[in-house]
Amino acid sequence: MDTKLMFQDAVGFPTPMLAVFAVDVATSKDADPLPALLTTSNALTHAAAKVLASGEFKAGLGETLLLHNPGGVKAERMLVVGLGKAKDLSVDEVRKGGGTAVRAVKPLGIREMAIAFPEDHALDDEHLDALPCKLMSRTLVEGAELGEMDWDTYRSERKDRSVRSLTVVSNEAEKTSREEIQAGFEEGLIVAEAQNFTRSLVNEPGNVLTPTELGKRAAAMCAEMGLACEVHSTAKLQELKMGAFLAVAQGSAQPPALIVMTYEPEGGAAKDAPVMGLVGKGITFDTGGISIKPADGMEKMKYDMAGAGAMIGAMRAIAKLKPKVKVIGVVCSAENMPDGAAYKPGDVVTAMSGKTIEVVNTDAEGRLVLADGLNYAKRLGCTHLINAATLTGACVVALGMINAGLFSNDETTWQKFMDGTKTSGEKFWRLPCTDDYRDHIKSQIADMMNTGKNRYGGAISGAMFLKEFVGETPWLHLDIAGCAWNEETKPWIAYGPSGIAVRSIVEWVRGYSA
Ligand code: BES
Ligand code: ZN
Ligand code: ZN
Repeated sequence: MDTKLMFQDAVGFPTPMLAVFAVDVATSKDADPLPALLTTSNALTHAAAKVLASGEFKAGLGETLLLHNPGGVKAERMLVVGLGKAKDLSVDEVRKGGGTAVRAVKPLGIREMAIAFPEDHALDDEHLDALPCKLMSRTLVEGAELGEMDWDTYRSERKDRSVRSLTVVSNEAEKTSREEIQAGFEEGLIVAEAQNFTRSLVNEPGNVLTPTELGKRAAAMCAEMGLACEVHSTAKLQELKMGAFLAVAQGSAQPPALIVMTYEPEGGAAKDAPVMGLVGKGITFDTGGISIKPADGMEKMKYDMAGAGAMIGAMRAIAKLKPKVKVIGVVCSAENMPDGAAYKPGDVVTAMSGKTIEVVNTDAEGRLVLADGLNYAKRLGCTHLINAATLTGACVVALGMINAGLFSNDETTWQKFMDGTKTSGEKFWRLPCTDDYRDHIKSQIADMMNTGKNRYGGAISGAMFLKEFVGETPWLHLDIAGCAWNEETKPWIAYGPSGIAVRSIVEWVRGYSA
């Protein structure tokens, strides 16, 4: 989508479709909805006054209303987009509103549209502080760009339903606010484009996106963005003695890929400056291996590389946002298959760190590839680690599909991550990984086993396993199994890959910029 920002009055902007936001300003609980437009323009308010008074449109989040030939307005059509209750309005609703606006227009065959920048000061003052215009601008474009995507690449009779051009129109007059809106807009474009890049990787089927192909796409992205990139396979894994990663890969005809992407800040980083390590689980298909998964729903396991996708997308955004901190992305990609050569329950493997692992279940493969990935990131000099992984079904059982699991061994690092989620709007819920859970993964014959001793607290057992390989390094583990795939289409976003974690990882990294 060609997305632009213009400073002018939306009333006079010529466009086939102008979207304007509305909220419900009714305050008492039982009152009928009272929709009000988020605009200071009398002409726009006037054009929608009659239909808004009719009670047909309630300004609920995701609700839209289309008007043709709005009187006194240059646009051919006006789309009123609900953001829900005024008192609940936050930038998260603005993000969803941006998506809803674009997704409502797509099926109409209209290819060009504009969105009037929401003016929350059209309401009373209580919202002025809550919605800073930079963040509002950023979330608005994010929502629009994310909403524009549909996953019809593999349909032979694809109908082009894209919105090709979007103009965000703001009548802001003040210079500093204009600069803020402009800056937020540019950030939003970068981050959303990167998140969409992640989503398109995660959408790819396992037969197309093999570990080798993931390596090629990461390398192409890095070349485009000016990042250094190395893609290694079996020989290098053997040289590094990555016994855990190799064990997972050995049952597949597809060779593994160890992808290392490096971002250096301009002028280089100071000697003692932090180095951020982004480690992703890149299982391009997870059959479960010899501990094979049931057939029902197995097709979904193409998204078992969503953690890797998030890290590749985050590196893409980082390359453009240019924080003053060094960042290394490490992706461990393999296919988990049952085969004559596959690893088996009962096998004992030695990880790169030298620790031995009793494999109890070959379906707990993500933690094995990450064990070596985390250790390698440390060896490359990372001082702070974050990993993202569709690691456990247990995390989905615990948190459902709204919050992703978050684990950390360090309070400051955890707090910094949470601070970033205020901007990213993504939801993470912290679960414990204190040492009293270490017993979960105690093995009778090796340093640890790759599953919990029973099924209780399975997400925690996964985290405890990873913790064995990070040592004292401040570390965050994101278990995104429940949030990486949208099970249904919403008014603001399509069914399919969500691109979860890209935005939060990017904000976390920016929090360490010198
Ligand atoms: N890739 C799965 C986890 C998963 C489940 C991702 C649902 C997305 C949706 C992972 O490799 C796995 O199979 N984990 C096992 C671990 C168990 C054997 C200890 C699980 O969750 O059942
Ligand atoms: Zn598995
Ligand atoms: Zn898996």
